[in-house]
Amino acid sequence: MKGTVALVTGASSGIGEATALLFAERGAAVALAARRADRLDALAAKIRDTGGTALVIEADVADEEQARAAVARTVDELGRLDTLVNNAGVMLLGPVDGAPVEEWRRMVHVNLLGLLYCAHAALPHLISAAESGPRRVADMVNVSSVAGRVARVGTGVYNATKFGVGAFSEALRQEVTGRHVRISLVEPGATDTELRTHNRPEIQEQLAARFGNIERLQSADIADAILYVVTRPRHVAVNEMLVRPTEQVG
Ligand SMILES: NC(=O)c1ccc[n+]([C@@H]2O[C@H](COP(=O)([O-])OP(=O)(O)OC[C@H]3O[C@@H](n4cnc5c(N)ncnc54)[C@H](OP(=O)(O)O)[C@@H]3O)[C@@H](O)[C@H]2O)c1
Repeated sequence: MKGTVALVTGASSGIGEATALLFAERGAAVALAARRADRLDALAAKIRDTGGTALVIEADVADEEQARAAVARTVDELGRLDTLVNNAGVMLLGPVDGAPVEEWRRMVHVNLLGLLYCAHAALPHLISAAESGPRRVADMVNVSSVAGRVARVGTGVYNATKFGVGAFSEALRQEVTGRHVRISLVEPGATDTELRTHNRPEIQEQLAARFGNIERLQSADIADAILYVVTRPRHVAVNEMLVRPTEQVG
């Protein structure tokens, strides 16, 4: 990935943090976007300590202006944009009946609108990277979920956002693939991150019961999948990758 520039949203923890680290190890200059600037600063310091290039961008992707500014700063300060990893997300589960509607709004605003704003702002830069960059191909990886493929009782609105990400990704793929911009969908199963800890206590208990003692994926496992997707030769597009822990049944 030497000579390329990547923007990773949701880089302050979990899958986004692991992906940004791995990209930097492989020589990409990385822009790190999320709301918790202290976490991004710590990650940037780690990347710079090993000779890498990192740009910290404090941004709430649910705010259209901040999402656009994140893309613009990446291009202004790092010179180009070859890879966008649309990873920022929240998962607030529970039954529809009696649900706090504010949780739905947060998921729609971050998982769907935030991803759409970043995709829209990044696309012209990805097209230009594919036309004139050294690799002559560019990548947008949209992080969905098993929940983007399988709907379940108690996860309806999270399902709706991730199914939406899948539908959008496939439509956009068809629109730009002829221009060598690859739109890929990565769908993790249960991964050991802080994502589930933002749920109400009773929901966390239900999640713990559902997954039992299975060995969850680590963020680095998904980072590895994302790296695989973006390092294929120019003529190879990995459109979709579903990665579950071996013991996860559904
Ligand atoms: N963990 C799993 O089991 C699993 C399974 C399937 C799919 N996924 C997906 O993987 C992605 C990453 O999740 P994770 O598991 O790595 O969880 P995580 O550790 O909680 O990471 C979520 C990231 O999103 C960022 N984020 C949340 N709201 C944001 C906002 N408004 N603006 C900018 N950034 C925001 C968070 O940063 P700040 O709070 O600092 O803003 C954080 O960096 C999500 O899209 C999630 O749906 C996870």
